[in-house]
Amino acid sequence: MPWNRKDLITIENLSVEEIEQIFKVTAALKRTMGRSVKKLPALRGKTIVNLFLEPSTRTRIAFEVAATRLSADVISLDMAASSTTKGETLRDTAQNIEALKADMIVIRHTAPGSPLYLSRLLRIPVVNAGDGSHEHPTQALLDCFTLVEHLGSLKGRRITILGDILFSRVARSNIWAMTKLGAEVTVAGPSTLVPHWFTSMGVKVSHNLRTALADADAVMLLRIQHERQTSTHFPSLGEYTSMFGLNRTRAGWLKPDAIIMHPGPINRGVEIDSDLADSGQSVILEQVTNGIAVRMAVLYLCAGGSPEAMLKSAPAS
Ligand code: CP
Repeated sequence: MPWNRKDLITIENLSVEEIEQIFKVTAALKRTMGRSVKKLPALRGKTIVNLFLEPSTRTRIAFEVAATRLSADVISLDMAASSTTKGETLRDTAQNIEALKADMIVIRHTAPGSPLYLSRLLRIPVVNAGDGSHEHPTQALLDCFTLVEHLGSLKGRRITILGDILFSRVARSNIWAMTKLGAEVTVAGPSTLVPHWFTSMGVKVSHNLRTALADADAVMLLRIQHERQTSTHFPSLGEYTSMFGLNRTRAGWLKPDAIIMHPGPINRGVEIDSDLADSGQSVILEQVTNGIAVRMAVLYLCAGGSPEAMLKSAPAS
């Protein structure tokens, strides 16, 4: 099946076939990462601009490494260094980047909908690297790719997402991705951060931690996103941790082979105990590493790369 999208804006709009297509290309690209020469010529001569108008460590570096591995030239611009601080609009910034002959824009922005807005204005591909509390599609792709590596098919698997669901773009993108791939998803945490209306997205809502953890094949922790909260949703961080933080006792409620995930950044001792984050059950750093191959696949496909050509160049042994 060919890839027909110029942009990657949401998981909500992707079909199961498109997600599986990305995973096949990701797996092929991951195989190339084991070679002594890791660089591929696929995007040679292309210029990719990473426009990160909100802080990032993992996503920004992974997109930069991914583009570099595909031989693209990469220019990264953050909020403090951009002319948005002088009052320039996002539209003008993006149209100037296009006029400067960039071939693709990867954008992170605090405003939900900004990547979609740019994708309609620009002829060049736009990739969403996180827009406010709306979506973070490449994070969900790397999370689900990691889950598939550990669990095989997600069909019928039980996954619990625990924490600040209300303000989380990672939760929204993962709910779309996991349910499309056939998982049974439970979102859990305090009722102020996990409102009942999330059931309209096809997931279970639970405020009982023990029940939410008991039959999960994987649990994904989310941090409290203070930067997006405008009012108090629980009395204190200490009280949140005492009721919903994952510690050794509560991890004992999980199945012994359940995996622990976190998109990062982690707040050690708040949503997860430090030793659990570093334990054998944790796949947190595997998620980060898979972020390179997933982003290589997304950049390659949105630039018009042929999935078949990539699968041929790195066949499964
Ligand atoms: N998971 C994630 O988006 O991390 P960064 O904010 O560091 O990019």
